[in-house]
Amino acid sequence: MKKTRPVPRRRTARKGRPTRSMLAAMTALAREARERAQAPYSRFKVGAALKTRTGEIVTGCNIENASYGLSMCAERVAVFKAVSEGLDDFDAIAVVADSKRLVPPCGPCRQILWEYCGDLIVHMVDTKGRSRTVRLGELLPMPFDDGHL
Ligand code: THU
Repeated sequence: MKKTRPVPRRRTARKGRPTRSMLAAMTALAREARERAQAPYSRFKVGAALKTRTGEIVTGCNIENASYGLSMCAERVAVFKAVSEGLDDFDAIAVVADSKRLVPPCGPCRQILWEYCGDLIVHMVDTKGRSRTVRLGELLPMPFDDGHL
């Protein structure tokens, strides 16, 4: 049986930037995932597509609940789906939302992404196609992680 580690080994390794066509493919999948969002309370739909270095892409959408605090963001759905399928070594995530300002992962998502994906590329896109690409380290400059335990 594969030995499980508390955190992925390459968590803090710097990730190479995916090609433009790869980012476009991830964005298309995130857009499709966004259509599956369950967001009757906020009416704010988000889609995400998380990529491994070897090219597998796992999507997520936000899933809300009448008990609002149980709602889950698209990014974390994608990470948890991927990790539960045994994938690791993630290098990029695309996030698609409809907002005047590009939507970055929320605070809890940044923490989860850091733990499981390290300093990956975050590609934010709106429904009009505007985009911005940053590293997670720019969004979470002083992360708490297992190095502090
Ligand atoms: N949401 C995401 O799914 N990802 C983000 O990056 C920001 C917020 C969701 C959570 C909630 O369902 C809705 O958007 C409004 O906050």
